[in-house]
Amino acid sequence: MNPSHQVCGRNFRMPTHRIDQPQNPVEVIALNSFSSKDQVALDAQTRSLIERRQRVMGPAYRLFYTVPLQPARAQGTKIVDVYGDEYLDAYNNVASVGHNHPRVVEAVARQLRLINTNTRYLQRDIIEYAESLVSAHDADLANVMFTCTGSEANDLAVRMARQVTGGTGIIVTEYAYHGCTRDVASWSPASGVGDCPRFG
Ligand SMILES: Cc1ncc(COP(=O)(O)O)c(C=O)c1O
Repeated sequence: MNPSHQVCGRNFRMPTHRIDQPQNPVEVIALNSFSSKDQVALDAQTRSLIERRQRVMGPAYRLFYTVPLQPARAQGTKIVDVYGDEYLDAYNNVASVGHNHPRVVEAVARQLRLINTNTRYLQRDIIEYAESLVSAHDADLANVMFTCTGSEANDLAVRMARQVTGGTGIIVTEYAYHGCTRDVASWSPASGVGDCPRFG
């Protein structure tokens, strides 16, 4: 297939490298990312948005794709961009219930209208939610701890494992990404900042 073939929507470009070619960790992320040399092919509106983004968000934030996707809304398995083009979303963790699920939207909105606070108050709802999760698992999984992000969850899981086992080692796959806390990033080779020893 032509690497710049338009497979769906107007802006999608296939990466120009195969993922199984030997790459160092930073290059793995770069496979699919926008770089300033891609600017020339963009319209004025897109270039201006990228410049504003770089000015206020700095260089650490990557943009995917040589022609960056500008999503406007999403429903179920589909994302629609600002031009009205529709994309099948195989990326943004939609496998569970999809984008814009009415029950999720309603539950989040209802809670925000009531109160948005932390776990150090005695509140019936969070206990009932924890009980419902616990009842769905084997008896060994008897406690719930809540986090807001995947990075936090992975960080906390490793803290707990280290505390219980006294161990320190972690095995991760070569191109893995586990999140952005200091600890989690150190075993996320895809971020290019890992300090884990490599074997093999
Ligand atoms: C596989 C995987 N683990 C962990 C994370 C980190 O999750 P969060 O961005 O919610 O901290 C991500 C985020 O993209 C992820 O894809």
